[in-house]
Amino acid sequence: MAPRHLMSPLDFTTGEIGNLLDLAGDIEKNRQKYSHTCDGLKIATLFYEPSTRTRLSFEAAMMNLGGKCLGFHSSDSSSATKGESVADTIRIVSCYADICAMRHPKEGAPLVASMYSSIPVINAGDGGHQHPTQTLTDMLTIRSLKGRLDRLKIGLCGDLKFGRTVHSLIASLSRYDGISFTLISPEELRVPSYVRDSLTAKNIPFEEVVKLDESTMAGLDILYMTRVQKERFFNEADYVRMKDFYILDRDKMSSAPKDMFVLHPLPRVNEISVEVDSDPRAAYFRQVQYGVYARMALILTLLGIEVK
Ligand code: NCD
Repeated sequence: MAPRHLMSPLDFTTGEIGNLLDLAGDIEKNRQKYSHTCDGLKIATLFYEPSTRTRLSFEAAMMNLGGKCLGFHSSDSSSATKGESVADTIRIVSCYADICAMRHPKEGAPLVASMYSSIPVINAGDGGHQHPTQTLTDMLTIRSLKGRLDRLKIGLCGDLKFGRTVHSLIASLSRYDGISFTLISPEELRVPSYVRDSLTAKNIPFEEVVKLDESTMAGLDILYMTRVQKERFFNEADYVRMKDFYILDRDKMSSAPKDMFVLHPLPRVNEISVEVDSDPRAAYFRQVQYGVYARMALILTLLGIEVK
């Protein structure tokens, strides 16, 4: 049977996402029940671009399920330096592992890999394009904090142009009723036009603003902060000009809604001041823990392992 891959958050129906998040919720409550579900199985983490959370959380997820991990954490330590194609690499890795998570600076590289793979391939971030497992993490976090994924006003702030987590989250939440977006970014870092066009085509209310202030935050359920994606800038001067455009500090939080949670895919640079970390609305470190449960649920789902 052809393996099932995850390239975009839209590869799952909303029903399947609901099941996956329910499974993640059960994993959170009954960790022990799942601790041998992947005994004897291996995940390969093929990371052609740096990562801390995503790679380690995949590896932690597989180990929590009783499985093992192999892989590389930079293209320098793989045969990519010798000129091997992604297509060839995945053919090889298909002989070594049962499932694979791939991060690549080139958009579409994991999709190419999936076409040559005999094991499930998970897109762990491709260039400035998509990051579906961060989206599963974000959705699990939002559902846990707010109890729902519909009727939400979501603010996204920072680098909305290159931030792949933003693109995936907007696409995913756009499928639920009563969602509206406030897109907060400098003029140069607005969402790509394909994202804006998809919102317009689906009649989803959104506004684009530059300032992060009391009036922008009014009524928000979630404020999703992002870092300016230094590695995707063409020149250093533009990055330096943009990097501290937003700083969410205690003062700003004092004018934010009392029930507005702050999320961030991390790593954080300066866009959230450390003084915000102790605010009960700061949910970005809890989000990291949800990332492990979401990836555990994803591995089980793609491997077709049912746990009674
Ligand atoms: C994000 C990514 O890689 O896109 N990080 C992550 O996976 N948690 C966000 C970022 O790097 O800014």
